[in-house]
Amino acid sequence: MADDLRAAAEMLVADGKGILAADETVPTLTRRFDTMGIESTEQSRRTYREMLFAAEGLAEFISGVILQDETIRQTSGDGVPFSEFLAGRGIMPGIKVDTGAKALAGSRDEHVTEGLDGLRDHLSEYRSMGARFAKWRAIIRISDALPSHACVSANAHALGRYAALCQEQNLVPIVEPEVLMAGAHTIQRCEEVTGMVLRAVFQALVEQGVSLESMLLKPSMVIAGSECAHRSSEQDVATATLRCLRRHVPAAVPGTVFLSGGQEDRAATAHLNTINQQPGPKPWKISFSYGRALQDPALEAWHGRKENLEAGRRALCHRARCNSAASLGTYSDAMEAGPARSASPGHRHHWHDD
Ligand code: 13P
Repeated sequence: MADDLRAAAEMLVADGKGILAADETVPTLTRRFDTMGIESTEQSRRTYREMLFAAEGLAEFISGVILQDETIRQTSGDGVPFSEFLAGRGIMPGIKVDTGAKALAGSRDEHVTEGLDGLRDHLSEYRSMGARFAKWRAIIRISDALPSHACVSANAHALGRYAALCQEQNLVPIVEPEVLMAGAHTIQRCEEVTGMVLRAVFQALVEQGVSLESMLLKPSMVIAGSECAHRSSEQDVATATLRCLRRHVPAAVPGTVFLSGGQEDRAATAHLNTINQQPGPKPWKISFSYGRALQDPALEAWHGRKENLEAGRRALCHRARCNSAASLGTYSDAMEAGPARSASPGHRHHWHDD
C-alpha cells in the first residue's frame, strides 16, 4: 500500500510531466464562462471538460488531472465516467476535496480552508470512483500586518489532517499552501512569508504522521505582489523561489508542482523553466499543476462554440507541451511560434475563488 502511494506520487512527477488543475468549482467556472458570455450549465461545463480531457497527445505532457465533485460524477459523450476516461488515456484522475476557504473568525481578510468533517468517507467514495490523488488548497494573504500566526497555524493544521486522511484512504495528497500574489508586497516579503508558511506546513505534516515520500507539494512561486511597483525579473523569481524551497522543503518529498496563481500563461512557463535551469541541488522534481496558465488559452479559443473544440484542444496541448519542456529546463520562446497560439491577448483571470 505504502509502495503504491509512493509510486503514484512519483508517476505524477515523471520526467517532462505535470498536472492539469481542472477543479474549479461550479461558481468559479461560471464566473470564467460569464466573462466570455458562455452559458454555464451542467452540460456546457461537461462539454468544456471533455474538450480538455480528450485533447490529442495530452498524456505525453500531463500525468494527472484534478477534477472536482461535479466532474468526477460526469461522463464523456460516450457515457464513460471521466475518471475512467482519463485513466484509459494514461492520465491519473485526482480530486479536489476541500470545501473552500472561509473567513477566519476574529481576523480581517484572512481565510481558513474547511472540509475536514466527514472527509474520511468522502475520500473513500472518491477512491472507489477511481481517484488516485487529492488536493486541498489553503490561501495566505500578505499585507504589512498579515498573515497572522492564527491563520498560518490553522491552515497548516488542516493541511496536515487532510494529508494524513488521504494516505490512510490510499490517495496521494497534494498539499497546496498558496501565498496569494494580490497585494503590493515585495518579492523579499513574499519569500519571508512563503518560508514561514512552508515551515508551519511541514511541521504539521510530520506531526500528523504524513509520509513525505508519498505526497506532493503545490506551492506558489516567490514573486512580488501584483500591485508592487517593482516587478520581479524571471531570474529574481527563480533564485528566490529555489532558495526558499531548498530551505524549507524536505528532500524526501518527490515533487513540487507549482500553481500559476494568476501569472500570465507564458510568464508561468518561463518562470518554471528558469527555476529548472538554476545550478545547484534540486532534491525534488520541479513541475507544474497549473489551472489558469494551462486553461485560459483553451477557454479563449473555444469560447463555448462547437466549431472551436479542436482549436481549444490544440491551445491546451500547446501550453502543456511548453510547460513540459519548462519542467525539464528546455523551454524557449521559439516554442511559442506556430499556429496553436491565439492572436488575441485573451482574458486574464486574476481571481481563483476555490
Ligand atoms: P491556478 O494555476 O489557476 O492558480 O490554479 C491552480 C489550482 O489548482 C488552485 O487551487
